[in-house]
Amino acid sequence: MKQFISLCIFLIFPLSALTSTDLSDDYEAGEELYDLACANCHGKNLRNPGTASFNLKMFPKNDKKRFISSVTSGKGFMPALGDVFDAEEIEQIWVYVSQHK
Ligand code: HEC
Repeated sequence: MKQFISLCIFLIFPLSALTSTDLSDDYEAGEELYDLACANCHGKNLRNPGTASFNLKMFPKNDKKRFISSVTSGKGFMPALGDVFDAEEIEQIWVYVSQHK
């Protein structure tokens, strides 16, 4: 039995080591921030609630610059959030939005 358990730990450990990279930490941090500050308008899980807000699933994944600038300075009815979040947090939200499946 003891051997069985250590075998399980041996098999599971490399998997968890693979999934807990820095990037997935950023993804999770970004998800929390998103749920807190963006989901009201843009929808939980990026599912657009049918309001006038932008559908973030359609946001171009290669345009990080535009994302940072829109979130920092606001756009149209979207409030500027540059005073609410620091650069690192906006970066984490970008990881979440751009890698969301
Ligand atoms: C008060 C509602 C509201 C909140 C809160 C909000 N947004 Fe928006 N967002 C909007 C609306 C409305 C638009 C469409 C703006 C336009 O194009 O006129 C938009 C547009 C955007 C765009 C596209 C901008 C572009 O370049 O075209 C991005 C990216 C975005 N929001 C990200 C976010 C993120 C990330 C958060 C959370 C940190 C957030 N928004 C919070 C309402 C909101």
